Amino acid sequence: MDLEDLPGVGKSIAEKLREAGLHSLESIAAASISELKEVGIGESSAIKIINAARKRLNMGFETGLEVMKKREKIGKLTTGSKEFDRLLGGGIETQAITEFFGKFGSGKTQLGHQLSVNVQLPRERGGLEGNAVYIDTENTFRPERIQQMAKYLELDPEETLKNIYVARAYNSDHQMLLAEKASEIAKEYNIKLVVVDSLTAHFRAEYTGRSALAERQQKLNRLLHILQRKIADLHNIAVVVTNQVMARPDVLFGDPTAPIGGHIVGHTATFRVYLRKGKGDKRIARLIDSPNLPEAECIFEVTVDGIRDVE
Ligand SMILES: Nc1ncnc2c1ncn2[C@@H]1O[C@H](COP(=O)(O)OP(=O)(O)O)[C@@H](O)[C@H]1O
Ligand SMILES: [Mg+2]
Repeated sequence: MDLEDLPGVGKSIAEKLREAGLHSLESIAAASISELKEVGIGESSAIKIINAARKRLNMGFETGLEVMKKREKIGKLTTGSKEFDRLLGGGIETQAITEFFGKFGSGKTQLGHQLSVNVQLPRERGGLEGNAVYIDTENTFRPERIQQMAKYLELDPEETLKNIYVARAYNSDHQMLLAEKASEIAKEYNIKLVVVDSLTAHFRAEYTGRSALAERQQKLNRLLHILQRKIADLHNIAVVVTNQVMARPDVLFGDPTAPIGGHIVGHTATFRVYLRKGKGDKRIARLIDSPNLPEAECIFEVTVDGIRDVE
């Protein structure tokens, strides 16, 4: 079925939708009303169009059995550390967003690299037999590092690099577009992991001051919505986002840091992991408010070979 078969969608509107990156019924079904309004479609038509697409795809209510069937497809991706995997209930899950937050040097980018390699492993080695998209906002993606990690796992370093689709996001708008693009190519390129490193850096730089806060959160929320609905859910993909922590002068006791993006990121991410440095190569991961796992900690190492258990 074509977009033109939706009620009220003629040639020109279909064209506009495609230009906005809404190429398929799936992407329209997962779109928000405001997204369609941005294309220049009125509110009531937008509602009609989205509902028609959802109806066609049988989106709306699902039976408990259908939910269970979908959840049976959840894959688990190894971090490279058994302890860390255990903390996460078996590894990084598909159909979910996992957020790593922590200070500079806590290992967020290293994890992003390691997972991009690990996702390519066969299932019996903890992989998902798929490829990775890496959205890099801080210019910290390093192919040499990927090669080191691949060699240790006895994967061909060049092949491994070929299976990682890297895009540099220049600003928050570009980052949104890249997320849409990732959703579009997911099927064709067998993407099983999408890393956004960092999710929040551009937002923090572009929206400064209290007055911009609401707008920033709204946009961040839209990005997370794309990551969850159009990537994680739609294509059974593991989404991993990183988030810096900033100093919180108002906290006098305990940890005086807070993740950027605050509550919106907190409520959307299914798994939140707080990373901090330990002695030497050691890192401490703390799982925070997961829907079905206890809050707990583990220790792992960042070595030349990659993410490992402590010897
Ligand atoms: N090739 C390597 N061998 C060993 N450790 C490394 C290597 N590359 C990076 N690291 C470790 O990773 C740390 C950087 O972590 P990174 O993931 O970039 O932090 P961030 O949380 O800021 O993204 C370095 O300080 C170092 O301890
Ligand atoms: Mg980093």
